[in-house]
Amino acid sequence: MKADFIVENISEMATAAGRSPLTGTHASDLRVIRDALIASHNGRIIYAGPRKAADVEVAHGVRRMDAGARAVIPGFVDSHTHLPFAGDRSNEFLMRMQGRSYQEIAAGGGGIVTTVRATREISEDELFAISQERLDRMLLYGTTTAEAKSGYGLDLESEMKQLRVLRRLAASHPVTVISTCMCAHDFPPEYRSSRDEYISIISDQILPAVRQAGLAEFFDIFVESGVYTRLQGEVLCRRAASLGFLLKVHADELSDTGGASLAAEVGAVSAEHLLFASEEGIKKMAAAGVVATLLPGVPLFLMMDRHAPARTMIESGVAVAVATDLNPGSSYTESMPLIIQLACFRMKMKIEEALVAATLNAAHGLRRAHEIGSLEPGKWMDALILNSRSFIDLVYHFGVNPINTVIKRGRIVVGNGYLKKDRK
Ligand code: NIG
Ligand code: FE
Repeated sequence: MKADFIVENISEMATAAGRSPLTGTHASDLRVIRDALIASHNGRIIYAGPRKAADVEVAHGVRRMDAGARAVIPGFVDSHTHLPFAGDRSNEFLMRMQGRSYQEIAAGGGGIVTTVRATREISEDELFAISQERLDRMLLYGTTTAEAKSGYGLDLESEMKQLRVLRRLAASHPVTVISTCMCAHDFPPEYRSSRDEYISIISDQILPAVRQAGLAEFFDIFVESGVYTRLQGEVLCRRAASLGFLLKVHADELSDTGGASLAAEVGAVSAEHLLFASEEGIKKMAAAGVVATLLPGVPLFLMMDRHAPARTMIESGVAVAVATDLNPGSSYTESMPLIIQLACFRMKMKIEEALVAATLNAAHGLRRAHEIGSLEPGKWMDALILNSRSFIDLVYHFGVNPINTVIKRGRIVVGNGYLKKDRK
């Protein structure tokens, strides 16, 4: 097979390998190859390794990209975002800055439902436009695949509107978008005192309609005190699975509600947050192969001293992924580099572990590890050229955007830190 695209003059290529998540003592198994070359054909990698060993046939008109003696890593996989939302919650943020807690604000009628009201009101085209801007920003910070959730509609039509926006983005934006129906993000204001009724609407109307329209691959639910109980979580997860959804669970974010073990029992692909996960829950996740998607932007933004027990999870054999949780209430950032930095500084992950968690393990959390998450023959050519010679600078040189160039399926979509304007 002849290469139609070659990236050369790579000071070091740092990538995980394989199609399965890296766990335990292998969680930091990053291959670092100096003086590397990567070649692709039709957007798929055909060679990624030492330049000297490269035996690549070159097609007529091959495009050559000089990496300028800088480091190359796989594109980031942001496996947990609440991308399509309207409005902002800066007023609640200011209340939090004065000492009010996230839970107090939610109990007082703010929080998620504030964004629900704004998202219900906005037109589909406007929601598309603001979500597209956020996705552009994600791309500039190196995200080449993103999961995105509904959950700010909380009625059939508004959930479908959010998911249709995601479908349009998936068709038009360079970032690969994978959709999750999170109609169980909270209870809508109109069903706050008749919660069972909304649960029936989810079971009998929203989930079947979303499935029938093919608008989401995953179902996600917020199991937390004051939101969905563990039992409600179990009932809805089983219903969603019976309709063919893969499962994710927002678990043990603000208190231990048994979410980690629930995720294991219902066969979820991943459990998210897990700041308060019990040791027993962690063990069950390891045994069931549930990915722990850790979201260190949340305790930073909520000014909590706590962080998710990443070290215990890695030692217990749980596959750890990291993601932004981009949303207006608990983690307003599009930046995966920031999340990698927090993983190291706050959760004491090694830089290698954090990079694996943001690429291959995150890809597994979206059931995509066979095609993305590492730089290897057969996978998509989704790669980042950094501004520096070494991947260590991802964390060492913190608080700046480390991404120079983003390559998506063999096309340069960000160059010298700027978006290329032509869209897919
Ligand atoms: O992942 N935990 C629930 N959902 C989001 C917060 C959403 C919001 O506050 O708008 C989260 O933290
Ligand atoms: Fe979330």
